[in-house]
Amino acid sequence: MSVGELTRRSILNGCALAAVAGLVGFVVAKKSAASTPKSATAAANAYGTVDSGGQLLAKINQVPAGGGLILASAGVVLTKDAKGTVRGFSATCTHQGCAVDAIENGAIVCPCHGSRFEIATGAAVSGPATRGLPSVAVVVQGDGVFTG
Ligand code: FES
Repeated sequence: MSVGELTRRSILNGCALAAVAGLVGFVVAKKSAASTPKSATAAANAYGTVDSGGQLLAKINQVPAGGGLILASAGVVLTKDAKGTVRGFSATCTHQGCAVDAIENGAIVCPCHGSRFEIATGAAVSGPATRGLPSVAVVVQGDGVFTG
């Protein structure tokens, strides 16, 4: 037999090696971070193709840039900054629990005692509320804003 000639044994050894390499590759890929599904909330408020699986809250064009949209039935306020970033906040005032009902001059306004909250952060900017509105995870997918 000459060097480089294929023998039945060399072919079997090659096949066994390929099978072991494939098995090792499968195990490594299965345990890698790339094989783990990611939570949709990690991409909350970002434009993209995240499949949120959430409930549609509003169409993106219903949320005015530099302002917001109050969704009383969902208890959520959606805001959008000049760059188009959409954020969600609780619509329940942190002072005594009234539902906020207006967005004016960059602030979410509570009608009960006049507390105002910053639309970009939800932070209380004037009292009597001292705590900001809690964030609500939202995801923009296509032309919709969904629960995160
Ligand atoms: Fe909102 Fe008092 S309940 S300001």
